[in-house]
Amino acid sequence: MSKERIKFPVRIGLLGCGTVGGGVIRLIAENQEYLTSRVGAPLEIRRVLVRDAEKDRVPECRREWITTAADEVFAKDIDVLVEVIGGEEPAKTLIERAIREGKGVVTANKLLLAKHGPALVRMATEHGVDLAFEASVGGGIPIIRTLREALTSDWVESVHGILNGTCNYILTRMRDGKVSFDVALGEAQAKGYAEADPTLDVDGHDAAQKLCVISMLAFGANVHESDVPVEGIRLVDQLDFRFAERFGYTIKHLVIGRDLGDRIALRVHPALIPKHSVLANIDGVLNGVLVVGRGLGPCLLVGRGAGDMPTAVSVVADIVDVARSKIGGEPGLSTRGIQTQDRALAPLAEVTSRFYLRFDVEDRPGVLGKIASGLGEAGVSIEQMVQEGRAVEVDDAVPVLIITHACREGAVRAALDSIGREVFMHGRPRLLRIEDV
Ligand code: NAP
Ligand code: HSE
Repeated sequence: MSKERIKFPVRIGLLGCGTVGGGVIRLIAENQEYLTSRVGAPLEIRRVLVRDAEKDRVPECRREWITTAADEVFAKDIDVLVEVIGGEEPAKTLIERAIREGKGVVTANKLLLAKHGPALVRMATEHGVDLAFEASVGGGIPIIRTLREALTSDWVESVHGILNGTCNYILTRMRDGKVSFDVALGEAQAKGYAEADPTLDVDGHDAAQKLCVISMLAFGANVHESDVPVEGIRLVDQLDFRFAERFGYTIKHLVIGRDLGDRIALRVHPALIPKHSVLANIDGVLNGVLVVGRGLGPCLLVGRGAGDMPTAVSVVADIVDVARSKIGGEPGLSTRGIQTQDRALAPLAEVTSRFYLRFDVEDRPGVLGKIASGLGEAGVSIEQMVQEGRAVEVDDAVPVLIITHACREGAVRAALDSIGREVFMHGRPRLLRIEDV
Protein backbone atom coordinates (compact mmCIF):
# COMPACT_ATOMS: atom_id res chain seq x y z
CA MET A 1 0.00 0.00 0.00
CA SER A 2 2.81 2.41 0.91
CA LYS A 3 4.38 2.00 -2.53
CA GLU A 4 1.14 3.09 -4.20
CA ARG A 5 1.54 6.30 -6.14
CA ILE A 6 -0.71 9.10 -5.01
CA LYS A 7 -3.67 9.73 -7.26
CA PHE A 8 -4.33 13.44 -7.45
CA PRO A 9 -4.73 15.38 -5.21
CA VAL A 10 -2.62 14.79 -2.05
CA ARG A 11 -5.23 14.21 0.65
CA ILE A 12 -4.38 15.48 4.12
CA GLY A 13 -5.84 14.54 7.48
CA LEU A 14 -4.99 17.23 10.04
CA LEU A 15 -5.00 16.40 13.75
CA GLY A 16 -5.33 19.69 15.63
CA CYS A 17 -6.33 23.20 14.64
CA GLY A 18 -4.74 25.33 17.33
CA THR A 19 -1.77 27.66 16.90
CA VAL A 20 0.15 25.39 14.52
CA GLY A 21 -2.80 23.65 12.84
CA GLY A 22 -4.41 27.03 12.11
CA GLY A 23 -1.13 28.22 10.59
CA VAL A 24 -0.93 25.10 8.42
CA ILE A 25 -4.43 25.66 7.05
CA ARG A 26 -3.66 29.32 6.34
CA LEU A 27 -0.34 28.61 4.67
CA ILE A 28 -1.80 25.91 2.40
CA ALA A 29 -4.67 28.24 1.46
CA GLU A 30 -2.39 31.23 0.82
CA ASN A 31 0.17 29.29 -1.24
CA GLN A 32 -2.15 26.78 -2.90
CA GLU A 33 -1.09 27.44 -6.48
CA TYR A 34 2.58 27.65 -5.68
CA LEU A 35 2.50 24.48 -3.59
CA THR A 36 0.66 22.59 -6.31
CA SER A 37 3.46 23.35 -8.74
CA ARG A 38 6.09 22.38 -6.17
CA VAL A 39 4.43 19.07 -5.29
CA GLY A 40 3.08 18.23 -8.71
CA ALA A 41 -0.42 17.84 -7.26
CA PRO A 42 -2.74 20.03 -5.19
CA LEU A 43 -2.72 19.67 -1.41
CA GLU A 44 -6.25 19.04 -0.20
CA ILE A 45 -7.27 19.04 3.46
CA ARG A 46 -9.96 16.40 3.98
CA ARG A 47 -10.63 16.42 7.71
CA VAL A 48 -9.46 18.36 10.78
CA LEU A 49 -9.64 16.69 14.20
CA VAL A 50 -10.30 18.95 17.21
CA ARG A 51 -11.64 18.59 20.74
CA ASP A 52 -14.27 21.32 20.53
CA ALA A 53 -16.20 21.46 17.26
CA GLU A 54 -17.85 24.76 18.20
CA LYS A 55 -14.70 26.81 18.69
CA ASP A 56 -13.87 29.57 16.20
CA ARG A 57 -11.07 28.61 13.80
CA VAL A 58 -8.95 30.51 11.30
CA PRO A 59 -11.22 31.81 8.48
CA GLU A 60 -9.58 29.49 5.93
CA CYS A 61 -10.72 26.42 7.92
CA ARG A 62 -13.94 25.09 6.36
CA ARG A 63 -16.68 24.05 8.75
CA GLU A 64 -17.21 20.72 6.95
CA TRP A 65 -13.62 19.65 7.65
CA ILE A 66 -14.04 19.79 11.42
CA THR A 67 -14.62 16.58 13.35
CA THR A 68 -14.12 15.34 16.90
CA ALA A 69 -13.89 11.69 15.79
CA ALA A 70 -10.46 10.40 14.75
CA ASP A 71 -12.07 7.58 12.74
CA GLU A 72 -13.58 10.17 10.42
CA VAL A 73 -10.10 11.43 9.55
CA PHE A 74 -8.97 7.93 8.59
CA ALA A 75 -12.25 7.20 6.79
CA LYS A 76 -11.40 9.96 4.31
CA ASP A 77 -8.73 7.86 2.58
CA ILE A 78 -5.94 10.26 3.34
CA ASP A 79 -2.37 10.15 2.00
CA VAL A 80 -0.67 12.21 4.71
CA LEU A 81 -1.54 12.48 8.39
CA VAL A 82 -0.40 15.74 9.99
CA GLU A 83 -0.29 15.58 13.79
CA VAL A 84 -0.34 18.93 15.57
CA ILE A 85 -2.42 18.13 18.64
CA GLY A 86 0.64 17.66 20.86
CA GLY A 87 1.05 15.44 23.93
CA GLU A 88 1.59 11.70 24.08
CA GLU A 89 -1.94 10.38 23.58
CA PRO A 90 -3.94 10.16 21.41
CA ALA A 91 -1.11 11.44 19.16
CA LYS A 92 0.97 8.23 19.45
CA THR A 93 -1.91 5.85 18.78
CA LEU A 94 -3.08 7.86 15.78
CA ILE A 95 0.42 8.16 14.30
CA GLU A 96 1.00 4.42 14.72
CA ARG A 97 -2.30 3.70 13.05
CA ALA A 98 -1.38 5.96 10.13
CA ILE A 99 2.00 4.23 9.74
CA ARG A 100 0.37 0.80 9.81
CA GLU A 101 -2.07 1.97 7.13
CA GLY A 102 0.80 3.18 4.93
CA LYS A 103 0.16 6.92 5.28
CA GLY A 104 2.98 9.41 5.36
CA VAL A 105 3.16 11.19 8.72
CA VAL A 106 4.18 14.73 9.61
CA THR A 107 4.40 15.76 13.26
CA ALA A 108 5.54 18.77 15.29
CA ASN A 109 5.38 16.81 18.52
CA LYS A 110 8.74 16.89 20.32
CA LEU A 111 7.27 15.48 23.53
CA LEU A 112 6.19 12.35 21.67
CA LEU A 113 9.46 12.08 19.74
CA ALA A 114 11.54 12.51 22.92
CA LYS A 115 9.76 9.47 24.37
CA HIS A 116 9.18 7.32 21.33
CA GLY A 117 11.13 8.88 18.43
CA PRO A 118 13.50 5.97 17.64
CA ALA A 119 10.66 3.41 17.90
CA LEU A 120 8.39 5.46 15.63
CA VAL A 121 11.21 5.95 13.11
CA ARG A 122 11.83 2.17 13.12
CA MET A 123 8.15 1.49 12.66
CA ALA A 124 7.89 3.96 9.76
CA THR A 125 10.97 2.42 8.14
CA GLU A 126 9.55 -1.09 8.48
CA HIS A 127 6.30 0.03 6.85
CA GLY A 128 8.09 1.98 4.12
CA VAL A 129 6.51 5.33 4.98
CA ASP A 130 7.91 8.75 5.82
CA LEU A 131 7.82 10.18 9.31
CA ALA A 132 8.80 13.85 9.05
CA PHE A 133 9.26 16.13 12.06
CA GLU A 134 10.98 19.38 11.06
CA ALA A 135 8.66 21.52 13.22
CA SER A 136 9.45 19.56 16.37
CA VAL A 137 12.70 21.51 16.84
CA GLY A 138 13.29 25.21 16.26
CA GLY A 139 9.87 26.08 14.76
CA GLY A 140 10.62 27.46 11.31
CA ILE A 141 14.39 26.81 11.37
CA PRO A 142 15.36 23.93 9.05
CA ILE A 143 17.60 22.20 11.60
CA ILE A 144 16.20 18.70 11.10
CA ARG A 145 16.73 18.83 7.33
CA THR A 146 20.19 20.27 7.86
CA LEU A 147 21.22 17.42 10.15
CA ARG A 148 19.41 14.69 8.20
CA GLU A 149 20.39 15.74 4.70
CA ALA A 150 22.95 18.52 4.39
CA LEU A 151 25.26 17.12 7.07
CA THR A 152 24.74 13.45 6.31
CA SER A 153 28.26 13.43 4.88
CA ASP A 154 29.86 14.92 7.99
CA TRP A 155 30.45 13.94 11.61
CA VAL A 156 28.68 16.27 14.03
CA GLU A 157 31.01 17.09 16.90
CA SER A 158 28.76 19.42 18.88
CA VAL A 159 25.46 21.23 18.92
CA HIS A 160 24.72 24.34 20.98
CA GLY A 161 21.17 25.58 20.70
CA ILE A 162 18.89 28.29 21.99
CA LEU A 163 15.81 26.21 21.34
CA ASN A 164 13.13 27.44 23.65
CA GLY A 165 11.66 30.71 22.42
CA THR A 166 9.82 31.31 25.68
CA CYS A 167 13.01 31.05 27.78
CA ASN A 168 14.92 33.19 25.33
CA TYR A 169 12.16 35.80 25.33
CA ILE A 170 12.04 35.86 29.15
CA LEU A 171 15.83 36.11 29.56
CA THR A 172 16.04 38.84 26.92
CA ARG A 173 13.28 40.87 28.58
CA MET A 174 14.86 40.41 32.01
CA ARG A 175 18.25 41.57 30.68
CA ASP A 176 17.12 44.45 28.41
CA GLY A 177 13.82 45.51 29.98
CA LYS A 178 14.84 44.71 33.59
CA VAL A 179 11.38 43.16 34.07
CA SER A 180 10.79 40.33 36.51
CA PHE A 181 10.59 36.68 35.50
CA ASP A 182 6.79 36.62 36.11
CA VAL A 183 6.12 39.70 33.97
CA ALA A 184 8.24 38.36 31.13
CA LEU A 185 6.55 34.93 31.30
CA GLY A 186 3.12 36.62 31.14
CA GLU A 187 4.21 38.48 28.01
CA ALA A 188 5.50 35.26 26.39
CA GLN A 189 2.19 33.54 27.11
CA ALA A 190 0.19 36.45 25.72
CA LYS A 191 2.21 36.28 22.51
CA GLY A 192 1.46 32.54 22.11
CA TYR A 193 5.09 31.37 22.46
CA ALA A 194 4.66 29.28 25.58
CA GLU A 195 3.34 25.72 25.68
CA ALA A 196 -0.14 25.18 27.14
CA ASP A 197 1.74 24.22 30.32
CA PRO A 198 4.53 26.86 30.50
CA THR A 199 6.49 24.84 33.08
CA LEU A 200 7.55 22.72 30.09
CA ASP A 201 9.30 25.83 28.78
CA VAL A 202 10.70 27.53 31.87
CA ASP A 203 11.85 24.35 33.60
CA GLY A 204 13.74 23.25 30.49
CA HIS A 205 11.73 20.16 29.51
CA ASP A 206 10.68 21.49 26.10
CA ALA A 207 14.34 22.18 25.28
CA ALA A 208 15.38 18.75 26.59
CA GLN A 209 12.80 17.10 24.33
CA LYS A 210 14.26 19.00 21.38
CA LEU A 211 17.75 17.83 22.32
CA CYS A 212 16.52 14.22 22.26
CA VAL A 213 15.23 14.74 18.72
CA ILE A 214 18.47 16.43 17.65
CA SER A 215 20.52 13.61 19.21
CA MET A 216 18.81 11.02 17.00
CA LEU A 217 20.08 12.84 13.92
CA ALA A 218 23.32 14.49 15.08
CA PHE A 219 24.69 11.60 17.15
CA GLY A 220 22.64 8.62 15.91
CA ALA A 221 21.58 8.09 19.51
CA ASN A 222 18.45 6.73 21.16
CA VAL A 223 17.94 9.29 23.89
CA HIS A 224 15.01 9.49 26.26
CA GLU A 225 14.14 12.79 27.92
CA SER A 226 14.91 11.27 31.32
CA ASP A 227 18.54 10.72 30.16
CA VAL A 228 19.15 14.47 29.81
CA PRO A 229 20.22 16.57 32.83
CA VAL A 230 17.86 19.54 32.76
CA GLU A 231 17.70 22.91 34.51
CA GLY A 232 15.33 25.75 33.76
CA ILE A 233 15.59 29.50 34.23
CA ARG A 234 13.50 30.16 37.34
CA LEU A 235 16.52 30.84 39.58
CA VAL A 236 18.21 33.36 37.28
CA ASP A 237 17.67 36.88 38.62
CA GLN A 238 18.66 40.49 37.95
CA LEU A 239 21.79 40.19 40.10
CA ASP A 240 23.05 37.33 37.91
CA PHE A 241 22.53 39.47 34.80
CA ARG A 242 24.37 42.36 36.40
CA PHE A 243 27.38 40.25 37.29
CA ALA A 244 27.34 38.31 34.02
CA GLU A 245 27.53 41.69 32.26
CA ARG A 246 30.37 42.83 34.53
CA PHE A 247 32.38 39.69 33.77
CA GLY A 248 31.74 40.07 29.98
CA TYR A 249 28.95 37.53 29.57
CA THR A 250 25.26 37.27 28.89
CA ILE A 251 22.91 34.51 30.06
CA LYS A 252 21.16 32.14 27.65
CA HIS A 253 19.23 28.93 28.11
CA LEU A 254 21.14 26.33 26.09
CA VAL A 255 20.82 22.80 24.89
CA ILE A 256 24.27 21.27 24.52
CA GLY A 257 25.26 18.02 22.88
CA ARG A 258 28.79 16.78 22.24
CA ASP A 259 30.07 13.64 20.63
CA LEU A 260 33.03 12.48 22.72
CA GLY A 261 33.68 9.44 20.52
CA ASP A 262 33.01 6.62 22.97
CA ARG A 263 30.02 8.47 24.46
CA ILE A 264 27.93 11.60 24.18
CA ALA A 265 27.47 14.45 26.65
CA LEU A 266 24.03 16.04 26.75
CA ARG A 267 22.68 18.78 28.99
CA VAL A 268 20.15 21.60 29.13
CA HIS A 269 20.60 24.58 31.41
CA PRO A 270 21.07 28.34 31.59
CA ALA A 271 24.68 29.34 30.95
CA LEU A 272 26.90 32.39 30.81
CA ILE A 273 28.21 32.83 27.28
CA PRO A 274 30.68 35.51 26.15
CA LYS A 275 29.01 38.70 24.91
CA HIS A 276 30.86 38.32 21.61
CA SER A 277 29.56 34.75 21.03
CA VAL A 278 27.51 34.23 17.86
CA LEU A 279 24.70 33.01 20.13
CA ALA A 280 24.79 36.04 22.46
CA ASN A 281 22.65 38.33 20.31
CA ILE A 282 20.03 35.79 19.29
CA ASP A 283 17.36 37.48 21.32
CA GLY A 284 13.65 37.52 22.02
CA VAL A 285 11.71 34.56 20.70
CA LEU A 286 14.39 33.80 18.12
CA ASN A 287 16.03 30.39 18.21
CA GLY A 288 19.56 29.61 17.10
CA VAL A 289 21.56 26.44 16.65
CA LEU A 290 25.31 26.28 16.27
CA VAL A 291 26.37 22.94 14.80
CA VAL A 292 30.05 22.08 14.55
CA GLY A 293 30.85 19.44 11.97
CA ARG A 294 34.26 17.78 11.76
CA GLY A 295 34.60 18.64 8.09
CA LEU A 296 32.32 21.66 7.93
CA GLY A 297 33.38 23.51 11.08
CA PRO A 298 30.79 25.84 12.65
CA CYS A 299 27.41 26.41 11.01
CA LEU A 300 24.81 28.72 12.55
CA LEU A 301 21.07 28.60 11.91
CA VAL A 302 18.88 31.37 13.33
CA GLY A 303 15.17 32.04 13.01
CA ARG A 304 11.74 32.09 14.55
CA GLY A 305 11.42 29.07 16.77
CA ALA A 306 7.75 29.32 17.67
CA GLY A 307 4.45 30.81 16.56
CA ASP A 308 1.81 29.80 14.02
CA MET A 309 3.33 30.77 10.68
CA PRO A 310 7.03 29.94 11.23
CA THR A 311 6.05 26.52 12.57
CA ALA A 312 3.55 26.02 9.75
CA VAL A 313 6.33 26.69 7.24
CA SER A 314 8.18 23.64 8.59
CA VAL A 315 5.06 21.47 8.77
CA VAL A 316 3.99 22.31 5.22
CA ALA A 317 7.53 21.79 3.90
CA ASP A 318 7.36 18.30 5.45
CA ILE A 319 3.98 17.70 3.80
CA VAL A 320 5.52 18.69 0.47
CA ASP A 321 8.45 16.29 1.02
CA VAL A 322 6.25 13.39 2.05
CA ALA A 323 3.88 14.01 -0.85
CA ARG A 324 6.75 14.25 -3.31
CA SER A 325 8.34 11.03 -2.17
CA LYS A 326 5.00 9.22 -2.47
CA ILE A 327 4.35 10.69 -5.89
CA GLY A 328 7.89 9.76 -6.90
CA GLY A 329 7.26 6.16 -5.83
CA GLU A 330 9.88 6.27 -3.03
CA PRO A 331 7.90 6.70 0.19
CA GLY A 332 9.96 6.35 3.34
CA LEU A 333 13.24 7.36 1.71
CA SER A 334 14.10 10.18 4.13
CA THR A 335 13.15 8.21 7.23
CA ARG A 336 15.18 5.15 6.17
CA GLY A 337 18.32 7.28 6.46
CA ILE A 338 17.82 7.82 10.21
CA GLN A 339 19.74 5.16 12.10
CA THR A 340 20.02 5.22 15.86
CA GLN A 341 21.57 3.06 18.54
CA ASP A 342 22.00 3.13 22.31
CA ARG A 343 25.05 5.24 23.15
CA ALA A 344 26.75 5.74 26.51
CA LEU A 345 26.13 9.10 28.15
CA ALA A 346 28.81 11.07 29.99
CA PRO A 347 27.64 11.84 33.57
CA LEU A 348 27.25 15.54 34.27
CA ALA A 349 29.71 15.28 37.17
CA GLU A 350 32.46 14.43 34.67
CA VAL A 351 31.76 17.32 32.31
CA THR A 352 34.41 20.03 32.53
CA SER A 353 33.71 23.74 32.26
CA ARG A 354 34.24 27.04 34.01
CA PHE A 355 31.64 28.05 36.57
CA TYR A 356 29.96 31.19 37.87
CA LEU A 357 29.23 30.67 41.55
CA ARG A 358 27.12 32.85 43.77
CA PHE A 359 27.14 32.76 47.55
CA ASP A 360 24.75 34.99 49.49
CA VAL A 361 26.60 35.27 52.79
CA GLU A 362 26.85 37.12 56.10
CA ASP A 363 29.18 40.09 55.81
CA ARG A 364 31.81 39.23 58.43
CA PRO A 365 35.54 38.49 58.63
CA GLY A 366 36.72 35.05 57.53
CA VAL A 367 33.80 34.26 55.21
CA LEU A 368 35.69 34.79 51.95
CA GLY A 369 38.55 32.69 53.30
CA LYS A 370 36.23 29.79 54.11
CA ILE A 371 34.66 29.91 50.64
CA ALA A 372 38.08 30.00 48.99
CA SER A 373 39.43 27.11 51.07
CA GLY A 374 36.24 25.05 50.51
CA LEU A 375 36.75 25.40 46.78
CA GLY A 376 40.50 24.81 47.07
CA GLU A 377 40.04 21.58 49.06
CA ALA A 378 37.85 20.22 46.27
CA GLY A 379 40.52 21.15 43.70
CA VAL A 380 38.55 24.08 42.28
CA SER A 381 40.73 27.01 41.30
CA ILE A 382 39.38 30.60 41.38
CA GLU A 383 39.81 32.88 38.36
CA GLN A 384 37.94 35.97 39.62
CA MET A 385 36.11 36.92 42.80
CA VAL A 386 33.87 39.91 43.60
CA GLN A 387 31.99 40.88 46.74
CA GLU A 388 29.53 43.68 46.23
CA GLY A 389 28.12 46.13 48.77
CA ARG A 390 28.04 46.05 52.54
CA ALA A 391 25.42 44.64 54.83
CA VAL A 392 23.41 47.41 56.49
CA GLU A 393 21.85 45.17 59.15
CA VAL A 394 23.83 42.46 60.91
CA ASP A 395 21.66 39.73 59.36
CA ASP A 396 21.76 41.10 55.81
CA ALA A 397 23.35 38.94 53.13
CA VAL A 398 25.86 40.18 50.58
CA PRO A 399 26.59 38.38 47.33
CA VAL A 400 30.01 36.88 46.68
CA LEU A 401 30.54 36.00 43.02
CA ILE A 402 33.26 33.69 41.83
CA ILE A 403 34.37 32.61 38.38
CA THR A 404 36.36 29.37 38.48
CA HIS A 405 38.98 27.97 36.17
CA ALA A 406 37.88 24.93 34.17
CA CYS A 407 37.19 21.94 36.40
CA ARG A 408 34.96 18.89 36.71
CA GLU A 409 31.40 19.65 37.74
CA GLY A 410 31.59 16.90 40.35
CA ALA A 411 34.41 18.79 42.12
CA VAL A 412 32.43 22.04 42.20
CA ARG A 413 29.32 20.26 43.47
CA ALA A 414 31.33 18.68 46.31
CA ALA A 415 32.69 22.10 47.31
CA LEU A 416 29.22 23.71 47.17
CA ASP A 417 27.80 20.93 49.34
CA SER A 418 30.31 21.59 52.08
CA ILE A 419 30.24 25.41 51.81
CA GLY A 420 26.43 25.27 51.72
CA ARG A 421 26.42 23.82 55.24
CA GLU A 422 28.33 26.80 56.71
CA VAL A 423 26.34 28.98 59.12
CA PHE A 424 27.28 32.16 57.25
CA MET A 425 25.34 31.02 54.16
CA HIS A 426 21.94 32.55 53.35
CA GLY A 427 20.22 29.96 51.16
CA ARG A 428 22.01 27.48 48.91
CA PRO A 429 25.05 28.46 46.84
CA ARG A 430 24.14 28.91 43.20
CA LEU A 431 25.95 27.64 40.13
CA LEU A 432 25.76 28.66 36.49
CA ARG A 433 28.01 27.02 33.92
CA ILE A 434 30.12 29.11 31.57
CA GLU A 435 30.10 27.93 27.96
CA ASP A 436 32.87 29.43 25.86
CA VAL A 437 30.85 28.94 22.71
P1 NAP B 1 -2.59 24.15 20.58
O1 NAP B 1 -2.70 25.55 20.14
O2 NAP B 1 -2.92 23.82 22.00
O3 NAP B 1 -3.53 23.29 19.62
C1 NAP B 1 -3.79 21.93 19.82
C2 NAP B 1 -4.92 21.51 18.89
O4 NAP B 1 -5.12 20.11 19.04
C3 NAP B 1 -6.26 22.17 19.20
O5 NAP B 1 -6.96 22.43 18.01
C4 NAP B 1 -7.01 21.11 20.01
O6 NAP B 1 -8.41 21.13 19.81
C5 NAP B 1 -6.46 19.84 19.39
N1 NAP B 1 -6.43 18.72 20.32
C6 NAP B 1 -5.69 18.62 21.45
N2 NAP B 1 -5.91 17.45 22.05
C7 NAP B 1 -6.81 16.80 21.29
C8 NAP B 1 -7.47 15.54 21.40
N3 NAP B 1 -7.24 14.71 22.42
N4 NAP B 1 -8.35 15.20 20.43
C9 NAP B 1 -8.59 16.04 19.41
N5 NAP B 1 -8.02 17.25 19.24
C10 NAP B 1 -7.14 17.61 20.19
O7 NAP B 1 -1.14 23.56 20.32
P2 NAP B 1 -0.05 24.13 19.30
O8 NAP B 1 0.67 25.25 19.92
O9 NAP B 1 -0.68 24.31 17.97
O10 NAP B 1 1.00 22.91 19.28
C11 NAP B 1 0.74 21.74 18.55
C12 NAP B 1 2.01 20.90 18.48
O11 NAP B 1 3.02 21.64 17.82
C13 NAP B 1 2.61 20.52 19.84
O12 NAP B 1 3.19 19.25 19.73
C14 NAP B 1 3.66 21.58 20.06
O13 NAP B 1 4.69 21.16 20.94
C15 NAP B 1 4.17 21.74 18.65
N6 NAP B 1 4.83 23.02 18.37
C16 NAP B 1 4.22 24.18 18.69
C17 NAP B 1 4.82 25.39 18.37
C18 NAP B 1 4.17 26.70 18.69
O14 NAP B 1 4.78 27.74 18.44
N7 NAP B 1 2.96 26.72 19.22
C19 NAP B 1 6.07 25.38 17.72
C20 NAP B 1 6.67 24.16 17.40
C21 NAP B 1 6.03 22.98 17.72
P3 NAP B 1 -9.31 22.38 20.32
O15 NAP B 1 -8.85 23.55 19.50
O16 NAP B 1 -10.70 21.98 20.03
O17 NAP B 1 -8.99 22.54 21.78
N1 HSE C 1 7.02 26.69 23.61
C1 HSE C 1 7.99 26.48 22.59
C2 HSE C 1 9.02 27.60 22.69
C3 HSE C 1 7.31 26.50 21.25
O1 HSE C 1 8.83 28.52 23.48
O2 HSE C 1 10.04 27.51 22.03
C4 HSE C 1 8.18 26.00 20.16
O3 HSE C 1 8.52 24.66 20.32
